[in-house]
Amino acid sequence: MPLEARKCQSLTGRVRVPGDKSISHRALILGALAVGETRISGLLEGEDVLNTAKAMQALGAKVERRADDTGGIAWSVRGVGTGGFATPEAPLDFGNSGTGCRLVMGAVAGCPIRAAFDGDGSLRSRPMRRILDPLELMGARVISQSDGGRLPLTLEGARDPLPIVYRTPVASAQIKSAVLLAGLSAPGVTTVIEREASRDHTELMLKHFGADVISVADGAHGRKISLTGQPELHGAAVTVPADPSSAAFPIVAALITEGSDIVLSDVMTNPLRTGLFVTLREMGASIEESETRRDAGEPMAQLRVRASKLRGIEVPPERAPSMIDEYLVLAVAAAFAEGTTVMRGLHELRVKESDRLEAAAAMLRAGGVAVEIAGDDLIVEGRGHVPGGGLVTTHMDHRIAMSALVMGCASDAPVKVDDIAFIATSFPDFVPMMQRLGADFA
Ligand code: S3P
Repeated sequence: MPLEARKCQSLTGRVRVPGDKSISHRALILGALAVGETRISGLLEGEDVLNTAKAMQALGAKVERRADDTGGIAWSVRGVGTGGFATPEAPLDFGNSGTGCRLVMGAVAGCPIRAAFDGDGSLRSRPMRRILDPLELMGARVISQSDGGRLPLTLEGARDPLPIVYRTPVASAQIKSAVLLAGLSAPGVTTVIEREASRDHTELMLKHFGADVISVADGAHGRKISLTGQPELHGAAVTVPADPSSAAFPIVAALITEGSDIVLSDVMTNPLRTGLFVTLREMGASIEESETRRDAGEPMAQLRVRASKLRGIEVPPERAPSMIDEYLVLAVAAAFAEGTTVMRGLHELRVKESDRLEAAAAMLRAGGVAVEIAGDDLIVEGRGHVPGGGLVTTHMDHRIAMSALVMGCASDAPVKVDDIAFIATSFPDFVPMMQRLGADFA
């Protein structure tokens, strides 16, 4: 379904964006590998996470959605214990979700079962070798695969997984998490070393479920994470904070739309996820934090965001892991800024739900903005306003659709996107929530 965003008056009000996608996947997976019950409140009920829930059920866990005592929704997972997954009857279908698919590959690699993995056209085009390589070192076997390690593929887990020391070739929490999840079934210590620290939700949640995980600095920006294998994971209570990657859309929309003043509650502020907030503040954004607190190791805060005059800046490459999903919407902010914004070191954007480096450039060009790709860098010429008027192709990528609609909130002429269906993978309420804040989408 297409949708058009027109220039709106101002955005005002208070919202809570849905639960964090990364934490939601992990809560389901660790709940499924734990003994006893895990109760999850605030789970993101987007298609990506629902596919992980189905996969956990297919692998033998009992997953239920229930109303809790207060009338809210809580998800309950009764796990099978570390290494206890059962052979699923049918291929596990992860839809659009790289995270669900790759983390579950790690979990399956530590169990003596065979499972087939599949996904939609976008996921089938994404590289899985980066996950399969370390899992093979741990003893898992790839029984069949498509096109150089792509989906559909069948993985056989190791009967006796080996603990390994693995240096990730790219800063990727998905690779790190897959190795750690497989390492749960290995005797001894599994170690992952990353040159640049990626999001650490797996480590934090493993500790919350009772595993012994040690994470230390390694080099200027890296980390070394060691997990002691074969822990007894105990079901735990998890409250999922609001997703900073989803909050990014109303935040940028409010910054670029004159007169806006919005409040977002419970936004997760783990420093390995908040590169966008740092960058926007450097550009001159008014984003105030209050009510900071911590739940299950994850920090969160209330954010008040007011329309701001932004200026172009240079974003260093080492910041990329902490804002890897936010460059599309940052590109929109950069287009409304005065001056040039240079975003460096974006090679990983090419293997996301779509090639987001090309997509960012195409989206801005559709809006009449001057933009250039130079190697791995994206250079946006901000002129303080955006002409708009174009049609943006979403390429099965939720974040392209939402970023383009944000651009249309403040551009001179409307911006249209060809298909909003994929927004449901991560932020099912995006359109009505933005409309409640004052966006003009039709
Ligand atoms: C995620 C890690 C990131 C990110 C994705 C979620 C995670 O991918 O882009 O949306 O939950 O671990 P990479 O680890 O491949 O960078």
